[in-house]
Amino acid sequence: MKNKFKYDLCIVGGLGRVGLPLGILFANKGLKVCLNDINTKHAELVKKGIMPFKEKGAQSLLKKSINNNKLDISLNYKCISDSKCIIITLGTPLDKRRNPEMKKFLKVINIIKKSLTKNQTIIVRSSVYPGTCKKILKIINKRNIAYCPERIKQGYSIKELEKLPQIISGFSKKAIDQASILFKKISPKIIYSTVSEAELIKFFTNAWRYIQFATANEFFMICQDLNIDFEKIRKMMIDNYPRAKNIPKAGFAAGPCLYKDTVQLNTFFKNNFFLGNSAIKINEGLPRYIVKKLSLKYNLKNKVVGILGMAFKANIDDSRNSLSYKLRKILKSRGSHVICSDEYINDKNFISKEKLINKSDIIIIGALHDIYKKINFRNKILVNIWDHNKNY
Ligand SMILES: NC(=O)c1ccc[n+]([C@@H]2O[C@H](COP(=O)([O-])OP(=O)(O)OC[C@H]3O[C@@H](n4cnc5c(N)ncnc54)[C@H](O)[C@@H]3O)[C@@H](O)[C@H]2O)c1
Repeated sequence: MKNKFKYDLCIVGGLGRVGLPLGILFANKGLKVCLNDINTKHAELVKKGIMPFKEKGAQSLLKKSINNNKLDISLNYKCISDSKCIIITLGTPLDKRRNPEMKKFLKVINIIKKSLTKNQTIIVRSSVYPGTCKKILKIINKRNIAYCPERIKQGYSIKELEKLPQIISGFSKKAIDQASILFKKISPKIIYSTVSEAELIKFFTNAWRYIQFATANEFFMICQDLNIDFEKIRKMMIDNYPRAKNIPKAGFAAGPCLYKDTVQLNTFFKNNFFLGNSAIKINEGLPRYIVKKLSLKYNLKNKVVGILGMAFKANIDDSRNSLSYKLRKILKSRGSHVICSDEYINDKNFISKEKLINKSDIIIIGALHDIYKKINFRNKILVNIWDHNKNY
């Protein structure tokens, strides 16, 4: 990509979970990339070639791209004027009332606007509330805007980006062409859609996955009430029976994407997304259900309850929207003394898994990191929703 710009691309929000692996991958394809962010802590680490979070396969590629002088970090917006393409990977969280928090996101768009020059393409990659791309178009007032949603599984971007087809949509042929040139460097297949279709593809994908988890979780609760092991049933259901093979294990389903996008879709559909609503109730209700079941058998007051795994899912270090924290809150309200441990999350209040196992009367697995699968819990009361979940 020969051009007058210093950078082939700049990623706004480039030190986040989506932006950083994406930037690393493009830099390793030979593009000159600038990561723009406001996170000074991440910037310090990344400049030294250190990954600020767990991301499979990213560490060595980060070092390589820094050594090859392909990856710069910028804490100001000057790099935007210097870039041919600008990819936006800013966070799009919910506010306290569970509504999409769009103000901050659009404020940054207004700031970026001031640094834009001619012949640039803006690629929105954040998961945005339907209609947001049109709002961006209105602010920027240039049609060179593409929407290319990120669809990776968190923690596995490096592997998945080169395997997954890329959805590309845009408001002009130029934007679509530029985004295609860019993503063809990393994606095996391009799928073209309209912007409105792409916004829904992203939300439907996450809501579908979230509903699948809710189905497994509701089956789990039915089994619990019947004193039957759901995991044993699931294994028999999927054994050589292709139509049931996609049913996931039961377990906490939350995090910054699945829950959030299902909530947003429900808001967009004026609270009439019935399956989504039920899935939210089921998945978010699982910690309370576990505590209720436990309290039928044990007096939880003054018991030491250990939560092993505080991340929102297995083998990552991200605690955003993790149900382990909700579980902790519910247990505390029942008078339990709650202790927590996680292999990958740094928190001065957490203790080692060995200490937690020793001290706890009851142990609940909150995130089933692989390392926990090998532990012998001896004669402790163990709640493992993912496995052997009969009659805890
Ligand atoms: N995490 C995932 O696996 C995943 C997967 C698919 C889609 N998404 C979507 O991608 C988007 C980003 O998610 P994420 O998990 O990477 O979030 P993140 O919070 O890890 O990353 C966002 C980054 O934006 C930076 N930022 C905030 N304000 C800024 C500003 N004013 N200027 C420059 N940078 C700023 C933050 O410091 C942070 O590094 C969200 O819309 C999310 O829903 C996430």
